[in-house]
This record gives sequence, structure tokens and C-alpha cells, in this order.
Amino acid sequence: MNEHLNLESGEIYESGYRLDDDLVVIDHLGGTRKVDIYHCRSRSLKKYVVCKILRPEFCIHFNSLQAIIKEGEMLARMSHPNVMHGYSFELEPAPRIVMDYVGGQDLKSAFFTGNYSAFPISEAVSIVRQLAAGLSYVHSQKVLHLDVKPSNVLYADGSAVLIDFSVARDFDPESLPEDNAGTRDWMAPEQTSRSVVGPYTDVFGLGVVFYQLLSGGKLPFTTIEVEGSSTADDGEGMRLVKVPDYSEVPAHPSELNTSVSRELGDVALRALAIEVEGRYGSPGELGEALDGVS
Ligand SMILES: Nc1ncnc2c1ncn2[C@@H]1O[C@H](COP(=O)(O)OP(=O)(O)OP(=O)(O)O)[C@@H](O)[C@H]1O
Ligand SMILES: [Mg+2]
Repeated sequence: MNEHLNLESGEIYESGYRLDDDLVVIDHLGGTRKVDIYHCRSRSLKKYVVCKILRPEFCIHFNSLQAIIKEGEMLARMSHPNVMHGYSFELEPAPRIVMDYVGGQDLKSAFFTGNYSAFPISEAVSIVRQLAAGLSYVHSQKVLHLDVKPSNVLYADGSAVLIDFSVARDFDPESLPEDNAGTRDWMAPEQTSRSVVGPYTDVFGLGVVFYQLLSGGKLPFTTIEVEGSSTADDGEGMRLVKVPDYSEVPAHPSELNTSVSRELGDVALRALAIEVEGRYGSPGELGEALDGVS
């Protein structure tokens, strides 16, 4: 009998629960409709790890199973100080990925629990540089992350680590995305419109995070409703969907926070250029632009 499939909707494993011969639950860290994230102790790895488990109601969905397998494979390929590394993924007794545990908090929680000026400028720049280095590595592995946002960045002891490869895809400059998965407020125009995406698309997501770090959490664009469909296979045709209003000109970060120099704010805004041609072409270019800017 597979106990995982008997878990009631919304029910989570208690601290001390033995997931299998290797993993014991320490704590439930969070989760979404589809997955739960547990802090666990691994006997074989002799350390604390995180286990991302597909919720039982999704264990029969082919697409959800495929997605967690794909994420597990991608994380296992990653080896960089600013990118999450995965150890293994298993389908039994529950589809799950085991990865490194990072203490501290994700950037979203840091924004909420601290104040919006939680990050001094030097720290904000350091976080962006680290994420640019991490993303350059991800791109060197021919992968696009496509969901760079505060809740997908863990921050502990001055180190930033990019997590959550659930919408990441292999980079193929020839093919159009099958869907526009991602998180609206951090998505580049070419991602919301399902045009060709590339390393510059992750630069945009990082640009939004950068803007938030400089402006105390503020998003560069407000949201409007336009006609569109949220996924390629939702079968519902066109309907109203929310997207950032890219026609807006974001306020200059130096106007929102007097400690931000004009030069530094310009770098953040160039990462947010609507036209791909006006944006840094890669996270590496964004990182270089930060050299010598204070
Ligand atoms: N390796 C980790 N170490 C510490 N905390 C983690 C780790 N992985 C995830 N978390 C915490 O759990 C939260 C959710 O994890 P994650 O972003 O991977 O999944 P998700 O967004 O809930 O799900 P989905 O895969 O459906 O996008 C993170 O924002 C973070 O707070
Ligand atoms: Mg996430």
C-alpha cells in the first residue's frame, strides 16, 4: 500500500515522519497546490536536505510527473555556488526531488519580515551579482530558468542561491515556448507573449528583482488585463489575462530611494528594457555593467 496516495487533500507529514529508509521529516517549509517542501534529514547523505514532493492528487497526472522528473534532472546537473543542486529524484513511494538545504530565508520572506529597505545598496548589488553569476552558469548548461523572482532566491549569510526549476526549459533558440508559464510580475514581454525566449528573458526577471531590491519591494510595472490565453493547452480560447503594463515608464530607482545613484538605477532599468535589443543580452553583461558602479 502506498501511504503517500492516502494523504488527504491539504494534509502534510508531521515532524519525525519517515518518508522512506533514507529520509525523516524535520519540518514542513511550505508548498503550493502541487508540491510540498519538507526540511528532512538524509541518512545516506548524512546531512539536512530539502525534499520537494508532488502532492498525492497530482501523482496520477502525466504532465505533473513529467515536470517533477524534468526539474529533478535539471537540478542534478547544476553545480554552482549560486544555484541549487539536486541529489536525486524518485518516483516511489512519492515523486520527489532531494536537494541541498539552505538556511536563512527566501528574498520574498525577507522583504515581508524586514522592512522594504531591508537591503542596503551594497547588499542589493551583491545579491544581483551573485544571481547574475548563477544564471550565467545555468545558461552555460543550456537551460533557461524563466521564473526568477524573490521567492525563488534563498538568502543566507550573504549568499544568494537560485532555486525552483519548475518552469525551466532547455534553451532552444529555434523553438517557440509551448506555454507562458512563469510568474506574471517578473515575466519579460517576450515570455508573456510566448515569443522566442533567451538568456535576456532571465535578465528581465533579475531586473525586476533588482528594481525591487533598490526600491524597497516596489514592482516596476502595474498590471492590466488583456486578451490572451494562459497556456497552450487550456482549451478555453481567448480570455482576459493579467499582464504587466509594459507601456509604463518605471520610476527611476534613484527617485524612489535617495541612496541609489543615477548610474546604478540606469543599470536596473536597462535590465528591464522592453525591447530585447535595448536590454543586457545576458546576465554576464548585467554583472559587468555593475563593475565600477556604486
Ligand atoms: N533547498 C531549499 N532550502 C530551503 N528552503 C527551500 C528550499 N527549496 C525551497 N525552499 C522554500 O520553499 C519555498 C517553495 O519552494 P519552490 O520555489 O521550489 O517551490 P514552489 O514555488 O512552491 O513550487 P513549484 O515547483 O510549483 O513552483 C521557497 O520559496 C523556499 O522558501
Ligand atoms: Mg517557487
